Amino acid sequence: MATAGKVIKCKAAVAWESSKPLVIEEIEVAPPQANEVRIKIVATSLCHSDLYFLYESLDKSLFPTILGHEAAGIVESVGLGVTEFQPGDKVIPLFLLQCGECRFCKSPKTNRCEEAMKRHAQKSTEHSRLTCKGQKLQQFMGTGTFSEYTVMNQMAVVKIDPAAPLDKVCLLGCGVCTGYGAAVNTAKVEPGSTCAVFGLGAVGLAAVMGCKAAGAKRIIAVDINPDKFEKAKVFGATDFVNPKDHNKPISQVLMEMTGGGVDYSLECIGNVECMRSALESCVAGWGVSVIVGWTDLHDVATRPINLMLGRTWTGCLFGGFKGKGGIPRMVKAYLDKKVMLDEFITHNMTVDQVNDAIELLKNGKSIRTVMRFSPQ
Ligand SMILES: NC(=O)c1ccc[n+]([C@@H]2O[C@H](COP(=O)([O-])OP(=O)(O)OC[C@H]3O[C@@H](n4cnc5c(N)ncnc54)[C@H](O)[C@@H]3O)[C@@H](O)[C@H]2O)c1
Ligand SMILES: [Zn+2]
Ligand SMILES: [Zn+2]
Repeated sequence: MATAGKVIKCKAAVAWESSKPLVIEEIEVAPPQANEVRIKIVATSLCHSDLYFLYESLDKSLFPTILGHEAAGIVESVGLGVTEFQPGDKVIPLFLLQCGECRFCKSPKTNRCEEAMKRHAQKSTEHSRLTCKGQKLQQFMGTGTFSEYTVMNQMAVVKIDPAAPLDKVCLLGCGVCTGYGAAVNTAKVEPGSTCAVFGLGAVGLAAVMGCKAAGAKRIIAVDINPDKFEKAKVFGATDFVNPKDHNKPISQVLMEMTGGGVDYSLECIGNVECMRSALESCVAGWGVSVIVGWTDLHDVATRPINLMLGRTWTGCLFGGFKGKGGIPRMVKAYLDKKVMLDEFITHNMTVDQVNDAIELLKNGKSIRTVMRFSPQ
């Protein structure tokens, strides 16, 4: 490609500081170094974790940053030593990279990676090839996909089927795999079971879809925004509960509805009170509750007896999927019409409208907004 080996000037949405609107800027993206891949991002969507970072990060040193971690694109050029990718490959960036060598990568029990943990502890500009007005930009979650071009280590990129439509499969970069995997991989939902999903954003709706795929017979969808219930039905929810309609704890409501509690519950909100309710909605004896929602502001609590009675409280990142194997499988499942993606997309925009996309998600008016860098 004509751009290989050169600095690319392109458009990006920069978060200069916490809680402020993003600013569309022209940035410079340096060529990939050894083992790195420069990617032209074709489509990127907004996940609640981007909002969480923008509004709840108290540490000023985390800015300026490029948000975005749910995306799909095309390899523009590769650095020395890259054998897995070629220019033109369709790819999805991974916020959970996989070195493939460490004891975690070799274990089927986790999607964590020692290299990822090491990088997390390093100053996050160290690996960034993105600059604006002379300042290095950080890449949120190591990805920074609200930039038309980004550079990532090959450990954090996965090649996908060339037939995949990038403006749909971008959702597999985070939200859909996260919710779906939480049900299928982490909770290991069994056929005939009863499940409850708390929070019906893309993550929760994907959890509903995962429960259904695993054969759950009853899926109770819980949200304080009743506008979400119609969508939840599309993904397989059978019952709908709005906590605002009840004047008793929601765990009690679910206990009564199910004659003693659900087999599986998934918290997809990021609220520690809801995490507690989700656990306490599970049947004593074997109930499993999975924490999927993210928050770093509060501790989570319950009485020890709630666990002693035989409930399991667990959690997962990225639905327990190892990205390099899991994403291509999910892309195939989408192409084979075994998982839905289009149904999550409520808005299509260009990155220039990113602040509108943020407002929509903040106000519960969107599930996923897919953004491109220029109109189609
Ligand atoms: N574990 C992971 O790897 C991972 C990955 C992606 C996202 N997340 C987290 O998952 C969560 C959901 O993400 P999303 O993009 O689907 O968000 P979203 O904002 O689209 O959805 C959240 C939903 O929760 C509902 N809600 C809020 N408060 C509630 C309450 N008290 N009771 C019931 N429902 C309530 C909202 O109405 C909304 O429908 C976020 O916390 C996000 O940071 C975690
Ligand atoms: Zn590893
Ligand atoms: Zn996310």
